[in-house]
Amino acid sequence: MDGVTESQVGPPSPFERRREKLFAQLGGGVMVLPAAPTRFRSRDTEYRYRPDSELFYLTGVTEPEAVAVLVGGEEPRFTLFVRPRDPDAEFWAGPRMGVDRALSAFSPDDCHSVKELAQRLASLLDGGDRIFYRTRHGDGVGTFVSAALERARARGPRTGGGPRALVDPGEVLDDMRLIKDEQEIEALRKAVAISIAGQRAGARSLGGGVPERTVEAAVEGAFRREGAAAPGFATIVGSGTNACVLHYVDNEDTVQEGALVLLDAGAEVGLYNGDITRTYPASGHFSEEQRAVYDVVDGARTAAISVAQPGATIADVHAAATVVIVDGLVTLGVLSGDRDDLIEQGVHKAFFPHQTSHWLGLDLHDPGDYTRGGASRVLEPGMVFTVEPGLYFRPELSKGGAARYSGIGVRIEDDVLITADGNEVLTAGLPTAAEDMEAMLAGEE
Ligand code: GLY
Ligand code: MN
Ligand code: MN
Repeated sequence: MDGVTESQVGPPSPFERRREKLFAQLGGGVMVLPAAPTRFRSRDTEYRYRPDSELFYLTGVTEPEAVAVLVGGEEPRFTLFVRPRDPDAEFWAGPRMGVDRALSAFSPDDCHSVKELAQRLASLLDGGDRIFYRTRHGDGVGTFVSAALERARARGPRTGGGPRALVDPGEVLDDMRLIKDEQEIEALRKAVAISIAGQRAGARSLGGGVPERTVEAAVEGAFRREGAAAPGFATIVGSGTNACVLHYVDNEDTVQEGALVLLDAGAEVGLYNGDITRTYPASGHFSEEQRAVYDVVDGARTAAISVAQPGATIADVHAAATVVIVDGLVTLGVLSGDRDDLIEQGVHKAFFPHQTSHWLGLDLHDPGDYTRGGASRVLEPGMVFTVEPGLYFRPELSKGGAARYSGIGVRIEDDVLITADGNEVLTAGLPTAAEDMEAMLAGEE
């Protein structure tokens, strides 16, 4: 079914605006974005469906099996293929949008049943000079893309037409997605608000003798109650030395009296992700050693955020955190020597092995190059990223001056938006300073 609907009258949706920007860069290319596959947890039992970030970004489509075809050129066209209505299938898995409703909901120029993909895709692809498509096994599209490229290679020299190159959609989309628009920032604010609610629920559940999974349940229960689709990633509740395992997700230990608990959790809301880490003293108060390490990490967080502004680079943010971490390791008596020499030798990496930041958005680790032309990415208004320094004293490495801190792991993670004149800490509603954390755990905040 083709045609113009009433929904196309009025201000363009954010999806239409993004498509306009895409078409301005697509030239004569054709972009094909299939929906994310349904993933199986075991045998025929499915995970809850998680739509494809790129397809959603450009169209708002969240249904499985959909395919968007965006043909660039002087008269760009957005063709959408969706599952047809099917009462039997809908009895099992719920309502499908179908072609008619998809036409008014997503405003494509043309909308067809995905059953017509085989018959229609070849001619859409043949009209482009390049195909923007990410090869993925079994999405029903790849064979048409290969065939179109082969046809053009065979016939192109005579007809001068057809697609001659396959390009990753990220070549255009990653840079677009790096600068968040108003609707995306709004969505991120919601994800962050619910992530904060989860952190607060997790903090309230803490105490000596509490199973880590009870904390996980408190966090994720709050996420769902507040309207999140799911945690954006497996919640990390690392108590004691488990905090020193960077991707600890078992959450099967029991929080010991006096231990620190590293809680790294984020809610996915409207497909956008919050990502927050706080490290709490389970008993409500930091020990002297815990507090000393904690203050270094929070100082690194503050220093990193203070340099995050337009014109600085993402490497500057990491460098600012690293300086405070290295100075802190010297003050703690763990390292000795000249700061610059220590940084150059990378000795601190035994205790702070990861980067300070990653881009944040529709994907937890959102796409976008961290370098460009060999230099670190310059920050621009609309970029959103985490600032998450940490210090981890793995017991096996805690020798010499580090022995005093053995088993202590601290990470503090905020989500930061670059604004026209600096930055906004989206997660500022959740404290980080040690005294504030203690007050929060005492129910005074
Ligand atoms: N929780 C994953 C991350 O912070 O990147
Ligand atoms: Mn993160
Ligand atoms: Mn995180």
